Amino acid sequence: MTFDIVIRNGTIVTASDVFTADIGITGETIDTIGHGLTGHHVVDATGLLVMPGGIDGHCHIEQEEADGTVHEDDFASASASALLGGTTTVVCFASHVPGRNIVTQFEDYLRRGQNSRIDFAVHQIVTRTDADTIEKGIPEIARRGVAGLKVFMTYDDFHLTDGQFLRVLDAAKASGLVVSVHCENYDAIRHMIEAHLAAGRTDAHAHATSRPPCLEREATYRAMTLAELVDHDIQIFHVSCPEVAEEIARARHRGVKVSAETCPHYLSLTEADLKRNGFEGAKYICSPPLRTQADQDGMWSYLRDGVIGIVSSDHCGYSLEGTSGKARHGRDADFSLIPNGMPGLGTRMAVLFDAGVNSQKIGLTDFVRLTATAPAQRYGLYPRKGTIAPGSDADLVLWDRTQQVRITNDLFQSRIDYTPFEGRLVTGWPAMVLARGRIAVENGQVLRKPTMGRFLKARSGPQD
Ligand code: URP
Ligand code: ZN
Ligand code: ZN
Ligand code: ZN
Repeated sequence: MTFDIVIRNGTIVTASDVFTADIGITGETIDTIGHGLTGHHVVDATGLLVMPGGIDGHCHIEQEEADGTVHEDDFASASASALLGGTTTVVCFASHVPGRNIVTQFEDYLRRGQNSRIDFAVHQIVTRTDADTIEKGIPEIARRGVAGLKVFMTYDDFHLTDGQFLRVLDAAKASGLVVSVHCENYDAIRHMIEAHLAAGRTDAHAHATSRPPCLEREATYRAMTLAELVDHDIQIFHVSCPEVAEEIARARHRGVKVSAETCPHYLSLTEADLKRNGFEGAKYICSPPLRTQADQDGMWSYLRDGVIGIVSSDHCGYSLEGTSGKARHGRDADFSLIPNGMPGLGTRMAVLFDAGVNSQKIGLTDFVRLTATAPAQRYGLYPRKGTIAPGSDADLVLWDRTQQVRITNDLFQSRIDYTPFEGRLVTGWPAMVLARGRIAVENGQVLRKPTMGRFLKARSGPQD
């Protein structure tokens, strides 16, 4: 048999194995893994790692904000950045802005997604718990293929009370949807922000000191307790530090159905970045905030032992310039007025590979598990996505682990005007990316057009 494409003699890495073989692709899927395969088109992968295309389980793309503005990184640009960094599937967020029905917002978001170059699944944000949302809306979007729900315990426009959170958990349980949670204590942060501003602390670093680890730990404990009460699955998003991970480990020991995610920035940047001069510190404002070097060092063991099972970007780009960006209230605005979030779709895989695999803090199979297999399993996309096996979509990244790259923002064709990793030297970079059996990136060029991505109907899977 002659395959459409053969990836020859690469070092195949899955979440459980590393071995050398050929991959035969027919149409959009992997047909055979073997030796001596022949194809119409043969890619020599000798010396390269061949891994499942990355799955970024948490990224904010073309998302509507409460004030009606839309994130400037749209599906066409964000999916180009994702591909250039080795990611072939994203799970992004439909918003739930005041005055609009949740099902309509979900459907509107799927229409925006038609411009994606890569396949995408959708989390639905829930910010209100009126009867229409809970009784009709959540069951309906579950039928229509939402991957899961996201709720916030903080942020003025989004946060839910414990009672509201419980209503969402009940509805999610009835519909079999995992609830992902942004855990920070809203009232305590308001108190801390007011105290900082009263003391004249308006600088970007005050963002970190006004949201200390104990407020993330408390909210995480509370979210897990409420999930325990309802006996339903939750996922803790963007765990920033070991004391939160330790709380999650304890809950898992008790049998609470909880899984967790972290992001490359908590593994490679620190709160010292918020002290950069002028408006530079604003680039690093995200929530939960960047923590200390000791916190960063303490995270890796939780990635190895599976307490933190997923590494997503939490890509949430706001340019420095422009009316909807970081400086929307002016460059002299206090830290509490600067929008939270950093771009990270393009850099996720390379930064984690360099910080984790090259320094031997995680192994190659861990890398694949954290960046592709576990998110596919968690969001109901596995085994179609997230692994290399006959029948799976031929979403592959051919990774040159010897290539050194100095990260600059222009590598990612992003609409966001900066990357927090500007100037960082990393070793390991995608040499080629395939998405559903077609070459999607070659020689740094994106070959996949907007509209080629498809919406993936998903159903949250059981936790690991
Ligand atoms: O600062 C962050 N993380 N912004 C994105 C929204 C969120 O909280 O995930
Ligand atoms: Zn052919
Ligand atoms: Zn969040
Ligand atoms: Zn987020």
